[in-house]
Amino acid sequence: KKIYLNGDILDSESATISVFDRGFLFGDGIYEVMVQINGRFFYKEAHLKRLEENLRKIKIDFDTRNLSAEISKILKGSDLVDKDCLLYMHVTRGVAPRQHAFPTSITPTFMMYAIPKILPDINLIKASVITSEDFRWTRCDIKMISLLGNVIANEDAMQAGCFENIFIRNGVVTEASHCNVFFVKDDIVYTHPADRFILDGITRQLVLELCAQLGIEVREKGVSEKAMIDMDEAFLTGTTTQIASIRQIDDHFYYQGDAIGKITKRLQEAYLKLKN
Ligand code: PDD
Repeated sequence: KKIYLNGDILDSESATISVFDRGFLFGDGIYEVMVQINGRFFYKEAHLKRLEENLRKIKIDFDTRNLSAEISKILKGSDLVDKDCLLYMHVTRGVAPRQHAFPTSITPTFMMYAIPKILPDINLIKASVITSEDFRWTRCDIKMISLLGNVIANEDAMQAGCFENIFIRNGVVTEASHCNVFFVKDDIVYTHPADRFILDGITRQLVLELCAQLGIEVREKGVSEKAMIDMDEAFLTGTTTQIASIRQIDDHFYYQGDAIGKITKRLQEAYLKLKN
């Protein structure tokens, strides 16, 4: 497996970083994930724009102008040009003696890798999810590499034999450990607004666009924990999750068997058309 590290393409065993890298010491960095399907990255511009915004948010001075050319290098090095794959990009503030404040002159660490990835057939996913308190900080809009809260929540879901763990903050559904969450009630789609309590997913933005195109009404409004089980449909979105129907949330079933909700289905169909 090949790794892109600070301009070089290396074997994964020789791609090493300093223990004084602030990504390692503090989780001081951001990342991005996108997928290549049928020879092109799905919503590449939106992903690169979010990467730039995240760098700005945490004041990492990193030049992204050559990014597309560098991405081509890692795809070539990994023998994945035009192949279906997942690209992981990771920028940390860089290497410096351990002190909380930002060092004055520092070169960011930039790491990327690409792995073959065939996305699952979304029609087959009927997810069961659990819910838990959103114990994360209040800058969930930053796609930061310090994912401890998300990791713990996801592990709880796995232990429960579930696909995801849905976070509830002050009685309101925010998002899940690595997905955004949507509900449908009386043909109206609900999702949490893109504020500091959620990551504004590229797939989330795309679903909102699809709703506009299909004439489906949307309210960017958090659904309360109480109202959650009165909803007609629920689904998850994310780059690798795509649009995944939720069948069961804790003890509540939105449907039995294979009866994916009609709005979820319409959005899935519109989404799959975009990919092909
Ligand atoms: N997860 N919310 C959180 C907390 C996420 O980590 C993600 C993405 C999303 C969905 O964002 P998008 O549609 O842009 O993928 C929402 C990535 C894929 C991950 O950590 O692997």
